[in-house]
Amino acid sequence: MHSFRYVGKELCCEGVPLSTLARRHGTPLYVYSQATLSDHFTKLDEAMAPVDHLICFAMKSNSNLAVIRTLADLGSGFDTVSAGEIQRVMAAGGDPRKCVFAGVGKTEEEIAFALRNEIYSFNVESEAELRRISRVAVKLRRIAPVAVRVNPNVDAGTHAKITTGTYENKFGIAFEEIEGVYARAAKLPNLRLRGLQMHIGSQLTDVKPFRLAVEKVVPLVTRLNARHGFDFFSIGGGIGIVYQSALESGNPSWWTKGRGRGILTPDRYARTLVPLLQPLGLRVLLEPGRFLTGNAGALVTRVEYIKKTGRKNFVIVDAAMNDLIRPAFYDSYHEIVPLTKRGGATVSSDVVGPICESGDYFAKDRPLAKVSEGDHLALLSAGAYGSVMGSNYNSRPLATEVLVNGKKSAVVRERQAVEHIWANETPAPWQRR
Ligand code: LLP
Repeated sequence: MHSFRYVGKELCCEGVPLSTLARRHGTPLYVYSQATLSDHFTKLDEAMAPVDHLICFAMKSNSNLAVIRTLADLGSGFDTVSAGEIQRVMAAGGDPRKCVFAGVGKTEEEIAFALRNEIYSFNVESEAELRRISRVAVKLRRIAPVAVRVNPNVDAGTHAKITTGTYENKFGIAFEEIEGVYARAAKLPNLRLRGLQMHIGSQLTDVKPFRLAVEKVVPLVTRLNARHGFDFFSIGGGIGIVYQSALESGNPSWWTKGRGRGILTPDRYARTLVPLLQPLGLRVLLEPGRFLTGNAGALVTRVEYIKKTGRKNFVIVDAAMNDLIRPAFYDSYHEIVPLTKRGGATVSSDVVGPICESGDYFAKDRPLAKVSEGDHLALLSAGAYGSVMGSNYNSRPLATEVLVNGKKSAVVRERQAVEHIWANETPAPWQRR
């Protein structure tokens, strides 16, 4: 359930028409619904209530300070992947002691920063990293809480670029090697073996790969827990969302009429996994990103030109792949709807941005209601891996971000000033004028 829906002819985020926001703040514009963020967090939190658990929001999906604060206020922890992300949590008023720190390439400086700020746990990706964390912890006279990431070798059945739980990719340590790694880690100084972590991939719309991975890993956790006295087992993130029919999926009747069947709801996820996890008697950590933020955000854009070629109808908009790279990068689908609903026939259209690459598109051959120059469109389900993957390609400033709460709205990131794009650049000394 999310809070983007038509009220009359106007597409609204909660109680605010998106056209009002587009007029006020210009485009491209990211709009986030605070109610959706809270609702999705609460639904998952409640579904997992039968086990002691901590939701660590995968902030890589959307790290705006206002989004972090919304979730921090609900008691969320954070799955972080850099010292920068831990600093962001702190800047947003979140608690670094609720941060787990993942990633295959943690530097010594990042490890020291995380230790000084007493993070919850390092999610360790290699033996070399365990040795490095131990060394830094000895130097700082601290005890480092660690969990090793197991690669369960289960195919998540998702896009190749976002699959992480098979031996084809760089993540974690092979299932068969894990016990040896823990035995050696137990001999390293200043480490506390606090748990085990896994994450098999992103945008999983079926519960089965989760079930297979948990079933496979629970016996391993039981053995390791007996030896090392764990606190937690982290089952990672990856809960998929609705991209097709995104707008309808915000409507409760869409679910009750059964069209939402086959979609991975928090209830279905928890109902399947909780009985497998409960016997462990450990705290369960979850690392959802997209599930919390995906359908909580839309990217609003203005139509600049309509261009017809012999074969195609191009709708050229003012947002581009630098604002939302997912279609170019993963061929991903984002529903595209007008801010002001209109009837009439649809036209098969390519929605493209102004960047000089053929990959700069949001949709190909998509039936769209006829639009004209100056109209506005919304790309839905853009709250996860949207703005955070933005770049300055073609010297395009990063977009404005707005948070909506009921009838209130506020800019939570100003549009980047164009001079800021090159603020850290300078001609070489011999080029001075
Ligand atoms: N935990 C770990 C260790 C991860 O690597 C990730 C995502 C998550 C949790 C959160 O996954 P989620 O719940 O959001 O599926 N840019 C891609 C997705 C990359 C996912 C990276 N890791 C996209 O736009 O689809």
